[in-house]
Amino acid sequence: LHLTVVKHNEDMSQAAAERVLAQLAQRPDSVLGLATGGTPVGLYRQLQERKADLSKAALFNLDEYYPLPRRHPQSFFQFMKGHVYDPLMPLSYDIPNGEAEDVERECTRYETAIRSAGGIDLQVLGVGRNGHIGFNEPGTPFTSRTRIVALKRETMEDNARFFGDIGLVPKRAITMGIGTILEARSILLLASGAAKAEALYQLLKGDVSPDVPVTALRLHPSVHVIADEQAASLLE
Ligand code: F6R
Repeated sequence: LHLTVVKHNEDMSQAAAERVLAQLAQRPDSVLGLATGGTPVGLYRQLQERKADLSKAALFNLDEYYPLPRRHPQSFFQFMKGHVYDPLMPLSYDIPNGEAEDVERECTRYETAIRSAGGIDLQVLGVGRNGHIGFNEPGTPFTSRTRIVALKRETMEDNARFFGDIGLVPKRAITMGIGTILEARSILLLASGAAKAEALYQLLKGDVSPDVPVTALRLHPSVHVIADEQAASLLE
């Protein structure tokens, strides 16, 4: 595991953009795994400013609320449309369908789509303050695959800011499993702000345990963590 600590959120986004651009330079038809949420917003802005060429790239997202219509302004689909799909025009993109009628079938479809694309070359991850990756909450087995999950109260609280009221946050989501994430050939984890300090501390110093899902990354051979000073504040 490789750790880079930078000063501010903007520096994290810039360093992350360098790595994504390097991946695309090495392989224009890369398969990228992407995250939503506050953490990667600066990365996507950088990719726009630097005119990243995604014309041969295939994108897969980690997760989507369920059930939630694609047109809902807080769906991860809309987030991706605004930050990535419309401005960067990738060759292809896929995200779990929050309005699928048959969820089991949708989860199987998603796993198959990732495999058919050749697997993910570079997976971008954020981390929840409870250590979740994707929507794999504490207690998730490291062998888990794409499936429907119930969100923890703290995750719903953290995301209430986007919905205006916690009562409006969907209680479930479709997420890649930890096993799915660990199959990516390389992983780029971004962490910004003091709320992520404990999760980052656990990743680097804690025991590898499903109690803190992000610690699963210690089992992966190619992980790069980029953290700002606040997120890294518990590391010496
Ligand atoms: C988002 C995702 C989540 C977030 C995490 C951190 O697709 O899978 O695991 O990365 O909840 O969210 P932010 O970046 O909003 O702090």
